[in-house]
Amino acid sequence: MCDIDFLIVIAAYVIPIYVANGCALLFGGGLPLDFNRKLFGKPILGKGKTFRGTFAGLFFGVLSVLILSPFIPKWFVADYMIFGILLVVGALSGDIFASFLKRRFGLERGHAIPLLDQLDFVVGSMVFTLQMRVPRMEEVLFIVALTLFMHRFSNYIAYRIKVKEVPW
Ligand code: CTP
Ligand code: MG
Repeated sequence: MCDIDFLIVIAAYVIPIYVANGCALLFGGGLPLDFNRKLFGKPILGKGKTFRGTFAGLFFGVLSVLILSPFIPKWFVADYMIFGILLVVGALSGDIFASFLKRRFGLERGHAIPLLDQLDFVVGSMVFTLQMRVPRMEEVLFIVALTLFMHRFSNYIAYRIKVKEVPW
């Protein structure tokens, strides 16, 4: 496999999930997915998982798949539209599942768990697409490293444009 093929694989995985995750953050707010309901005295998901954020992530994530799909070669997957939708749904589900777990452990919304918080959506997207394509070890490692870097980088940008108070 040559370098350009490796980059195609990485782009095919990361673009839809970064778009979905980023748009959930950007458009999030309003009615929480759990309708503020609790489970054994603790929020089911908490106020950080909303209808607006989830549907914005779904919409723009799938839109990015639609735009990308003509450029994704057939050797990657036979049907990138289906693959991409599974990536997006998996990413959003992984992030929601991580919040569910955090609330079960009594952690407040926004309480940072290193690695879980940054990678929950990556794991979700990979699990959901596993039946269509099993990623190679070097692809997984590259995507994990890129995601951790992009997380730091985007927080720094958000800080510089004063969306965030601190650069982390
Ligand atoms: N968001 C949303 N709906 C989602 C995912 C994210 O509305 N399905 C928005 C929320 O406004 C959320 C922000 O994106 O506050 C950041 O997402 P995330 O870091 O995953 O949530 P936290 O607020 O940190 O909450 P949690 O502790 O549950 O992760
Ligand atoms: Mg968080």
